[in-house]
Amino acid sequence: MENLRKFVAPEIVFGPGALQLAGRYARNLGANRVFLVSDPGVVHAGWTEAVVRSLDAADLKWALFTEVSPNPRAEEVMAGADRYDQEACDVILAVGGGSPMDCAKAIGIVHTNHRHVLEFEGVDRVDDPGPPLICIPTTAGTSSDVSQFAILSNRFEKRKIAILSKSVVPDVALVDPEPTTTMDAYLTACTGMDALVHALEALVSNAGSELTDLHAREAVRRIFRYLPEAIEHPRDIAARQQVMFGSLAAGLAFSNAGLGAVHAMAHSIGGLFDLPHGECNSLLIDHVVRFNWPQAGHRYATLADSLGVSLEGLSSGATCETIMEALSRFRHRIGITARLRDRGIRRKDIPQLARLAVDDPCMATNPVAPTTNDIETVYAQAL
Ligand SMILES: [Fe+2]
Repeated sequence: MENLRKFVAPEIVFGPGALQLAGRYARNLGANRVFLVSDPGVVHAGWTEAVVRSLDAADLKWALFTEVSPNPRAEEVMAGADRYDQEACDVILAVGGGSPMDCAKAIGIVHTNHRHVLEFEGVDRVDDPGPPLICIPTTAGTSSDVSQFAILSNRFEKRKIAILSKSVVPDVALVDPEPTTTMDAYLTACTGMDALVHALEALVSNAGSELTDLHAREAVRRIFRYLPEAIEHPRDIAARQQVMFGSLAAGLAFSNAGLGAVHAMAHSIGGLFDLPHGECNSLLIDHVVRFNWPQAGHRYATLADSLGVSLEGLSSGATCETIMEALSRFRHRIGITARLRDRGIRRKDIPQLARLAVDDPCMATNPVAPTTNDIETVYAQAL
């Protein structure tokens, strides 16, 4: 039975204009009053209002919840679940990046299961699914709109928690590249790198399959080819659509194959230092490639064409250096030039970061099972 592979995905509508189907889909899901989860940045960019217009056109009532931080907090989820009950809503609609979407997922399961959100931490800890959930991503990065993951911040313990469950896969993902045209260059770069790392981690995951490989490879190809273009020409909908497709493919891959050491390590940095998730991933990826190389080098090497490098005649060591350099060059080219130390991380922080990272559920699918010492070494290299 160990050769059987499962692949879970929501109903997906992809393409410019998908956002405008919000009202119709909410109605199809039986909505009377929609709980709209967003955040101040997305409201400011006008995308929340665009969704509201669609709900109004479908004659639906709605309540808006925007008290969501960039790294969404457990207490915000609990406040959101209270509001959901007070407003007597029956469908949840998230519009935004990973933060509002993860918060919306968690609000749903808190509402249904009547438990504190921190009790769902880990793999398959959710008994009952939440109310119907529609997600409209406004970044091409986290792909929370198709994934089995919700990541939250436990501020009291200064760490992130991961909820992995089929119960948090949205019912509908309306994946529209138009909202990504208002992201600034750095947010585009960080979220795009997050998507790229999703694909890379899914491709070498020890729970991957042909189905997830297919998506992961295509994601790497498109993101590498089109992300710089989307940054240079932010309003170019064709480039944005390619990156959005890459992000979607990466999301389908990682949701079903799992992630790895980059995410485990990025989560512990994000929890302790409250830094942007995509940036954390970007600063770690090449170093994790080196660490994983003995086990997974042959898989990374299959990406040479997509990464625009030739590996002909190279030794395994030189192949590893070439792939690492390609990733590092790419990140610099799109404007992510910092090191961990530039973000306030010090050598003394490494033991605590490493302890948290080895326990992160994402580490379970990394191709090499690391010791805490191994992870300390990788952090030190990225410092
Ligand atoms: Fe991520």
